[in-house]
Amino acid sequence: MKSNLTILIGKAIAASRAAYAPYSDFPVGAILVDKEGNLYSGCNVENASYPASICAERTALVKAVSDGVRDFEAIIIATQNGGSPCGICRQMLNEFSPTMRVVCVSFEGDITIDAPLSDLLPHGFGPSDLISPPE
Ligand code: THU
Repeated sequence: MKSNLTILIGKAIAASRAAYAPYSDFPVGAILVDKEGNLYSGCNVENASYPASICAERTALVKAVSDGVRDFEAIIIATQNGGSPCGICRQMLNEFSPTMRVVCVSFEGDITIDAPLSDLLPHGFGPSDLISPPE
């Protein structure tokens, strides 16, 4: 993935252009990479009923999972300041790929975070923490 990280960063920045963020004026783009190298894009989609909004990372995740994909290599997240993914997104990504690579970049392409999800969500609660984990 190293060789095409620059391309993926460009795609994450491009994904932010579809963001619907009239309330926060904080567009976010994400590119989720599965184990086969397939890409799923996402952007934040806000709503006049603010809590109904969804983050870019979860948009990409639900697109992938609804296509039957559950194993992920990495996610690249683009914001104006290279900000970190929110706790809800970390939790939802942790469900499927706790050690996936998380790369955060600014719209200038500067990398602010490049770390395994487990560093961003230490001791995360996952399927195996349930008394009867799903099969
Ligand atoms: N947002 C994301 O899309 N991803 C994050 O990880 C952090 C926040 C969105 C939610 C909202 O539309 C806007 O950024 C401001 O919080």
